[in-house]
Amino acid sequence: MTTIMTDVLVIGAGLAGERTAVEAAAHGNQVIILSLVPPRRSHSVAAQGGMQAALGNMARSAGDSPDVHFEDTVKGADWGCEQDVARLFVNLAPVAIRQMAHWGVPWSRVVPGPKRLPSGEIVEESAEKEGLIAARNFGGTKKWRACFCSDGTGHSLLYTMDNVALQLGVQVHDRTEALALIHDGSRCYGAIVRDLRNGELRTYLARATVIATGGYGRIYGQSTNAVINDGTGMALALETGVVPLGNMEAVQFHPTGVVPGDILVTEGCRGDGGYLLDKDEHRFMPDYEPEKKELASRDVVSRRMIHHVRQGHGVESAYGPHLWLDIRHLGQEHIETYLRDVADICRDFLGIDPVHQPIPVRPTQHYSMGGVRTDIGGRAYGLAGLYAAGEAACWDLHGFNRLGGNSVAETVVMGMVVGRSVAQDLVGSDFSFPDAPVRSAKAQVEQRLPALTTYGLEYVWALRQQMSAILMEKVGVFRNGRELVTAVEELQELQERAERLGLRSTGRGPNPELSAALRLPGMIRLAITIAYGALQRTESRGSHYREDYPARDDALWLRRTLATWPAEADLPRLSYEPVKITELPPGERGYGETREAAKKEGARG
Ligand code: FUM
Repeated sequence: MTTIMTDVLVIGAGLAGERTAVEAAAHGNQVIILSLVPPRRSHSVAAQGGMQAALGNMARSAGDSPDVHFEDTVKGADWGCEQDVARLFVNLAPVAIRQMAHWGVPWSRVVPGPKRLPSGEIVEESAEKEGLIAARNFGGTKKWRACFCSDGTGHSLLYTMDNVALQLGVQVHDRTEALALIHDGSRCYGAIVRDLRNGELRTYLARATVIATGGYGRIYGQSTNAVINDGTGMALALETGVVPLGNMEAVQFHPTGVVPGDILVTEGCRGDGGYLLDKDEHRFMPDYEPEKKELASRDVVSRRMIHHVRQGHGVESAYGPHLWLDIRHLGQEHIETYLRDVADICRDFLGIDPVHQPIPVRPTQHYSMGGVRTDIGGRAYGLAGLYAAGEAACWDLHGFNRLGGNSVAETVVMGMVVGRSVAQDLVGSDFSFPDAPVRSAKAQVEQRLPALTTYGLEYVWALRQQMSAILMEKVGVFRNGRELVTAVEELQELQERAERLGLRSTGRGPNPELSAALRLPGMIRLAITIAYGALQRTESRGSHYREDYPARDDALWLRRTLATWPAEADLPRLSYEPVKITELPPGERGYGETREAAKKEGARG
């Protein structure tokens, strides 16, 4: 097996991975990034609507500041986040966005008035200063703060970041997948990696290893996530038995995935003035949330939509009931300028024109607030030399519900922070790579490969589909104890069956079935960790909504779940740590829904 040595190994070439790599390389370190795909195809490229940063450049942002952004983030998180992390983040987001502009990101800018606002309103005298970075409205925020590049924000950021990485000499080894972390139970030394082009195994020895593999959306099947988002990095961390995952039960559904296909259409549609309509073309959100309407936080809007469909107001279709997202009234010029990716998605994938027709949508799995638990510097709990960044991490900026636009912002802010931690930790750090952990990780991988033969009875794609169905039906937007118990049992059964996989294809190189088979056991373990954590958490907080426990319970549950999976255990081991409250004590989120839940709970108790 070839051995490659480097200072820093980053697993994942999305925005978080590349930003971390850029920072570590800028401090003089040799950095290699591993990526399943060419880096510009990483899932970050799909981010549409914007990046939250309190610049206060728009009339509608007047009075915005990191303090207001902090308050929105903590309320959005339903007080489940680390407040020291949120404070660091909101203070750095304006720095990060201007740095990205300096590196070449073509942010949409304020144009001179009189002009048409994204909401459709005509402003005769613009209060804004021409040429400054513009912002649009997003859900759950007090101010217009989501800075954007039309609706291709991730695309612009990722291409720019990749250029900077190239300029700094960061190497990207693409079409590779990490199969195991090399560690001795207290320090991480790199990873065992498979070349997806020819099946060759390689050892990467690194003084620092960073997990930046994004989310696990594909375990849910119905997801806005790219097909590469299998949660690989989280699964690798869980497999060590010593690195905990934080808050895995916190799963975000985005209100507007298209039907069918579940491709995202951005929250920017509603931010710019789009409405949600039911089968009678009635705009129903003001009935439920008179104040924030379609721009309540995502968890709230998703629940209101599903509730409305359950009341019989959904539009029947061959793919199940859906609702409409209507942006027709924004007009062709606005759509072709600010929502042009949305227009392309509708035309290319749905065969409809959003200038003239409403868009069929439903809540769709979108984001994982949970991930590899790290400290404020991005250092993973449990193993020295291991770090995590972006969606793969539980830093924990988002608590139980992430605000739209805070994830793109997190990738570049956290990437900067983690890259600095890595660089600091590497100064003067001198250790040799012991043989035993390398041998043990190689043996672990080498045993797994021949075990995958054509003789097993179970078919990987069938088991994946069953796993997704269990999660969608029983661990989705609404949850209850009875269904969660069944979900855990059914997933455990799948876990057992996954030991008897049989491949229908024999190729050891570019073989998607083999990759899926290698990943499936880790994916099922993630699924069980989500369901089991959700079962134990007997309250509702942010995206985790228990129909049998509809109110938030701060007395019992102002705590973060930590899940490790010891070798040979049937279930993850859960422990809890307090959430850090440094500035804003728990209070009302300000939605009609929260008040209704409190009333229900009062009636029950
Ligand atoms: O709706 C969107 O554009 C998604 C943004 C996000 O998830 O942050």
